[in-house]
Amino acid sequence: LTSKRYQVKRGKYNEINEENIKFFTELLGPHRIIEGESELEGHNTDWLDTVRGASSVLLKPKTTEEVSAILSYCNQHRLAVCPQGGNTGLVGGSVPVFDEIIISTNLMNKVENVDTWSGVVTCQSGCVLEALDQHVADFGLMVPLDLGAKGSCHIGGNVSTNAGGLRLLRYGSLHGSVLGVEAVLASGEVIDCMTAMKKDNTGYDLKHLFIGSEGTLGLVTKIAIHCPPRPQAVNLALLGLSTYENVLKTYVAAKSKLGEILSSCEFIDRSSLECVEENLKLKPPISSHEYYMLIETSGSNGTHDEEKLNIFLEDVLGSGIVDDGTVASEPSRMLHIWGLRERIAEALHHEGYTYKYDISTPLSHFYKMVEDMRKHLGSKIIRCCGYGHIGDGNLHLNITTDEFDKEVLNRIEPAVYEWTSKVNGSISAEHGLGFKKRNYIHYSKSSGAVTLMKQMKKLLDPNGILNPYKVLPDE
Ligand code: FAD
Ligand code: MLT
Ligand code: ZN
Repeated sequence: LTSKRYQVKRGKYNEINEENIKFFTELLGPHRIIEGESELEGHNTDWLDTVRGASSVLLKPKTTEEVSAILSYCNQHRLAVCPQGGNTGLVGGSVPVFDEIIISTNLMNKVENVDTWSGVVTCQSGCVLEALDQHVADFGLMVPLDLGAKGSCHIGGNVSTNAGGLRLLRYGSLHGSVLGVEAVLASGEVIDCMTAMKKDNTGYDLKHLFIGSEGTLGLVTKIAIHCPPRPQAVNLALLGLSTYENVLKTYVAAKSKLGEILSSCEFIDRSSLECVEENLKLKPPISSHEYYMLIETSGSNGTHDEEKLNIFLEDVLGSGIVDDGTVASEPSRMLHIWGLRERIAEALHHEGYTYKYDISTPLSHFYKMVEDMRKHLGSKIIRCCGYGHIGDGNLHLNITTDEFDKEVLNRIEPAVYEWTSKVNGSISAEHGLGFKKRNYIHYSKSSGAVTLMKQMKKLLDPNGILNPYKVLPDE
């Protein structure tokens, strides 16, 4: 159990009893309250199989009013809760640590409105990202967020983690595209920040409190998100390169030559791609290289975009910065190439235990971290590799062993955080702090900022029932 491995002390919450179950059953009916160890196994364990809680109850509300009634009751009875979306989070935030009641947004999956004039889409927080994207596609729109977990993660989970993903480079962070949030506080009070106007400077912009706070300040029930037009022409290039310096040169060339049509710029190292080849049996369409880049363009005019992409490719291939490359515009080939990048996390998972780090660094230091860590760990591990959203300075450093090894963990942490802090990076670029990283917050935030965060938590959730042991460090 997580609490034993990490030696966490249970907070002073009540344990759930028969009377509580009776209340929830009357509120939701017998089918929307799930009990039993085997039924809850998947909800108690995180996607990475690295943390496990021991909740005995999961609730499935359908409406904001039901969420409000649940939280108000839990607050009065000092029952801790863990909000859960698709449970694809990578920092142990989405599963209970002890016996917190899991509140799942699984059944809160209604799209309420698509405003085709403005592109603003209003929906409940439990909409699965991919399903929401398919829904808005019928209106010629796209959700401005895409990530490997799209088939399972919920838009509410995305907002609560401020997920970044594959196209942040083009469409910006959710702090920009989410225009409205409805959230329920620990007390059960519903906070309606759903005005959904692009411009609205009336007082403090409270919705931002719920974007990226990982279920510790409120449970997000509805979202209004600005969806841009779905591009009519998409091209994808997979490039092979021999030095990291050439990766940087290619990124700079892509920005200047592709300009406004550049929609993604991703990085993969040799070890990461080998992992996908070996463990998922996917075959790359180019030969083996030290580094790879995926460069995607999206626009409204295929001929214009192809012309631009060709000029860029002639330039980088002609000057020898890029050794090899292939371009795809057919959906099935693009999907295959994207699979090589999006499924790295899954491929690593096949090796056993993944020590996963998600850092922002200046681009000059980006790959040095992987090289230094490889030397530092020597032969104690299966693999130390790097991939990520290079266009956003976001490196995913991953290390694998066949099973959890405390000695390896102690060699990686806090060294990885010290290294990141020295280059003024962020120790969690897009995955959040959740349970596993909360005690390292000081490497990226000043103590004044952490104190203010604790004061805000106390104000919004005085009894600390919302996702305890997450985000904020131990006292
Ligand atoms: P969960 O995992 O269920 O929960 C995540 C956190 O949000 C928890 O703290 C939970 O308590 C809280 N939460 C969930 N729903 C709510 C709610 N309605 N109200 C309040 N709190 C809530 N992340 C990226 O940023 N970029 C990526 O590219 C990316 N790629 C991924 C690829 C794979 C294969 C996987 C497995 C994960 C990836 N992730 C990525 C991480 C993860 O998918 C995101 O963090 C995602 O946003 C989580 O959504 P979810 O619905 O699964 O949330
Ligand atoms: C990704 O970009 O692939 C995700 O953030 C998942 C990961 O870091 O492994
Ligand atoms: Zn990522």
